[in-house]
Amino acid sequence: MTTDIQERFYQPEQGVYLLNHSVGCLPRSASDAFVNHFLEPWKQQGSNAWGQWLDNLTRFNGALANLLNGETQQFCPQTNLSSALTKIVGSLPLPPAGHHILLSERDFPSMGFVIQTLCQRFGLKPRFIPHEADLTDLNCWDDMLSDDTWLAFITHVQSNDSLRLPVAEITELTHRKSVISVVDIAQSAGVVPIDLKTWQADFVIGSSVKWLCGGPGSGYLWASDHIIEHCQPMDVGWFSHQNPMEFDIHHFDYGEDAGRFAGGTPSIMPFTVSAESIRTLDGIGTEAIFQHNQKLINRIIAQIRQGEIRSPLQEDRRGGTLAISFKNNQKAMAAMNNASIVCDQRSEGLRFSPHIYNTEEDADQLVEVINRL
Ligand SMILES: Cc1ncc(COP(=O)(O)O)c(C=O)c1O
Repeated sequence: MTTDIQERFYQPEQGVYLLNHSVGCLPRSASDAFVNHFLEPWKQQGSNAWGQWLDNLTRFNGALANLLNGETQQFCPQTNLSSALTKIVGSLPLPPAGHHILLSERDFPSMGFVIQTLCQRFGLKPRFIPHEADLTDLNCWDDMLSDDTWLAFITHVQSNDSLRLPVAEITELTHRKSVISVVDIAQSAGVVPIDLKTWQADFVIGSSVKWLCGGPGSGYLWASDHIIEHCQPMDVGWFSHQNPMEFDIHHFDYGEDAGRFAGGTPSIMPFTVSAESIRTLDGIGTEAIFQHNQKLINRIIAQIRQGEIRSPLQEDRRGGTLAISFKNNQKAMAAMNNASIVCDQRSEGLRFSPHIYNTEEDADQLVEVINRL
């Protein structure tokens, strides 16, 4: 039997889908929105579709603002987090040479590639919080944030083990030490409640492809009101202009809000889908999604007799994924494939991520496969 909420999503036909930390399932409403808000205006109006197409970007920003408690104009659509981070760092007045960017060895590798490349280019240094450090310990952040820290990169929920960081407390420290903060919400947006007004970060970057069920290509950045006027993005274009329709090649002024990060003619398709996906998830409510997700994770943890849990046991330190390491992870992965349990394998073992459309039966099927290992 399917519930009303399950009916709202297309789920892969076979097996138990627990790969929501990678790609969330397509909401039916988002599929319809793509046709109605992108393809139909194009078919019927040609170039005159631009009005409606641009409305889709405003819907996207507005959906994020509602979900994360921000303001629509503080968001700017981006292709992915790597690109957003590159643009943010490149837009800021640089500190003296030798200053560093703080990040953790447990951050998503792509973020490290960006930071190290930019450090090389701008005469800065990356400083890594070692893998074994406890990232939830504020003393650790306090020790690592020194006078020559320029920017701190903070991943809200770690992708390998789903450890959740106390972002508001960390950004309180960065403020006190006048360090710029950039928070990665790729693994938390849509499954863990987020309140940007409480966080008081300088920047937040994320994507829609995972828990937000919005598909690839619809990332975003959020910039706080007090920092935006200091940002001078290098990657500009007429949509970064205060008045995109001015068309005076000798005059360029940055737009007033986060739109200055837009660049040239914007991409519309992925954001048309994800605007509707985010609205659908927000309609269900992130708190309800989180409670459901944690209930299923706890149900799995309570029943399994094999494997070492690598994700935190406490809900207030955990995101939406359960990582379990088995004696032989490859063998465990083969067993999952055989049983059509859709999951993946990373450094902390196998990752299982139940979303709002997963059921207790899904959790029990996984437990059965684990206990048979
Ligand atoms: C924590 C985290 N950050 C970032 C990314 C992806 O970055 P990008 O959007 O640049 O591919 C992922 C993808 O799995 C992730 O888990």
